[in-house]
Amino acid sequence: MTQIFYVTTPIYYVNAEPHIGTSYTTILADTLARYHRLLGHRTFFLTGTDEHGDRIARIAATNGEHPQVLADRISEKFRQLWPHLFVHPDRFIRTTDPDHIRVVEHVLKKVYDAGDIYFGEYGGLYCLGCERFYTEKELVDGLCPDHKVAPEFIQEKNYFFRMSKYQEWLGNHIATHPDFIRPERYRNEVLGFLRDPLEDLCISRPTSRLTWGIPIPFDERYVTYVWFDALINYLTGIGYPHSSDWESYWAQAEHLIGKDILKPHGIYWPTMLRAAGIPPFAHLTVHGYWNFEDTKISKSVGTPLAPLPLLKVFGTDALRYFLMRDMVVGLDARFSVAALVSRLNSDLANDFGNLLSRVTRLVFTHFDGRVPEGPDEPGALADQAAALLQTIPQELEEIRLHNIIEEILQLVRATNRYLEANAPWKLVGESPKRAGEVIYEALEALRIAAICLSPVMPEKTAELLARLGQPIEGFRLDPHGQWGRLRAGTRMAQGEALFPRIAEDELPALLPEILGKSIQGIEVTPTPPEEEKAEEISLEEFSRVQLRVARVLSAERVQKSDKLLKLRIDLGHETRQIVAGIAEHYTPESLIGRSIVVVTNLKPVKLRGEESQGMLLAATFGDDLSLITVDKDTPSGASIH
Ligand code: MSP
Repeated sequence: MTQIFYVTTPIYYVNAEPHIGTSYTTILADTLARYHRLLGHRTFFLTGTDEHGDRIARIAATNGEHPQVLADRISEKFRQLWPHLFVHPDRFIRTTDPDHIRVVEHVLKKVYDAGDIYFGEYGGLYCLGCERFYTEKELVDGLCPDHKVAPEFIQEKNYFFRMSKYQEWLGNHIATHPDFIRPERYRNEVLGFLRDPLEDLCISRPTSRLTWGIPIPFDERYVTYVWFDALINYLTGIGYPHSSDWESYWAQAEHLIGKDILKPHGIYWPTMLRAAGIPPFAHLTVHGYWNFEDTKISKSVGTPLAPLPLLKVFGTDALRYFLMRDMVVGLDARFSVAALVSRLNSDLANDFGNLLSRVTRLVFTHFDGRVPEGPDEPGALADQAAALLQTIPQELEEIRLHNIIEEILQLVRATNRYLEANAPWKLVGESPKRAGEVIYEALEALRIAAICLSPVMPEKTAELLARLGQPIEGFRLDPHGQWGRLRAGTRMAQGEALFPRIAEDELPALLPEILGKSIQGIEVTPTPPEEEKAEEISLEEFSRVQLRVARVLSAERVQKSDKLLKLRIDLGHETRQIVAGIAEHYTPESLIGRSIVVVTNLKPVKLRGEESQGMLLAATFGDDLSLITVDKDTPSGASIH
């Protein structure tokens, strides 16, 4: 039976132009869709724009334009950008599309008729940015945790969705379907929300306050709350309720979202579906943020990073490669031009592109530009390629693209090593047949690597395969029987370097073009070594910092925090508690008994209600972190100079 894959992205608000953050999810969805197509699965990929609600209405009013005009303009920017990123959705949906409006009305009526929508009065703290009511408990120091502004108190009569009724069902569904919400930390976050009683959801806005929305079909004095409207796009996109195969797509639905919109997708959406008598989606996969240096890339934070200028300098394939390789789905990732250039140079120019140049040169120097004969028995590269092809579907299932890419690059690197070890350029003198076989094996490994990378880098891999005389059309990622399909005698083509190296000293000149005027006041040069940037201090100033060796006596997680660990440490003459943000890098057990370095004369602070009497030292690199320890067995309390 043909497998089906249905992938969605969040639909983007039309209050901001696309940036690297919003482009990431869409490229991820496109890459997944391409992998599934290559595996022969029937695939549908949906993206689009979210156009109703308070926020859009207010921006349009500020611009002095009708919200539809604003929505048309920004939606078009998204639609036009996607082909530049090689993103080709099966449908680009807009919440102002007439079929979507009908589906929202249909779902509202269904839930209303089932008795799960009622009319009531509610007063609460409303954040305009999030377009939702907050409970006191959810606020941080009285402010919205996302927008850092105080919510307004609003009291009005509205329609409510009886979300509370489905709390128990949702808890059970999540418990019995471990891959319903993933990675696990987000599943736990939703289970955490469900530990407190769920409130009903206000799903209307009075037209006296807001008219830019889908009218409530059973009361014209109200429009639909933007989230209730927007989530339903995932059904409209596949032709619910009338198309004959919406159900087969729906059963495989994979929603990709960023961590900021976990609650609407993890709580509102499944309960809405349940109330409407529609089965839950298959998976909700949550990714972290792309941060520019250390700030979230977004319009509201003021660091939008536009994709087009980046494409001009690096090309779409390289940008897609970087985004897919450098984010581990679930964790935050750091975007920097220096990191992008280093990926491009090492993986794409040195390893992948260079392999093509080497084998092409060999084929043209010694074999008249034609693929030589392969050996009778394929060697170790064939086994590695077969293992790679086996792994891809499994890794894809878990959306671990960084792993897929890394394994493909392992094959590429192994092939480069194989060429060096067998030196066909020398071998050709004594045994042209054997030299040809070595080259054939390298070509075949390269061909398979290129097919496996084609969902990530569609253009460059198509060009590479064309140079090998192997157009990509009609290829399937078939774990069996791939090896050996490259026909001896096929004419190859020469060409320029597939991925030219970017000289690091060219970077400063490129930066203004890449970053345009969108980022101001932020250091964008490739990160210089820390000591070069740092302000100079005197020895006397440095000696005011007391550093000591400490032994970890015990360690445990800080409740309700993914990042913090609470450590009890021995300083020789005393023990202390410190709290450190290392939970994503070290398990508590792995720390016990280790000697670490601690700043001991820091003013105590409280983190998540736990007192921290000092700070441990650690090195950070990329997303990773490494504890500073001492080289010899050193007694606790020893001071560091
Ligand atoms: N309109 C809602 C979603 C409704 S879905 C039914 C919305 N739109 S948004 O325009 O604000 O974009 C949200 C999504 O963009 C995030 O969830 C995330 O997928 C992506 N990103 C925006 N900034 C991001 C980063 N800096 N990094 C990674 N992704 C981020 O919320």
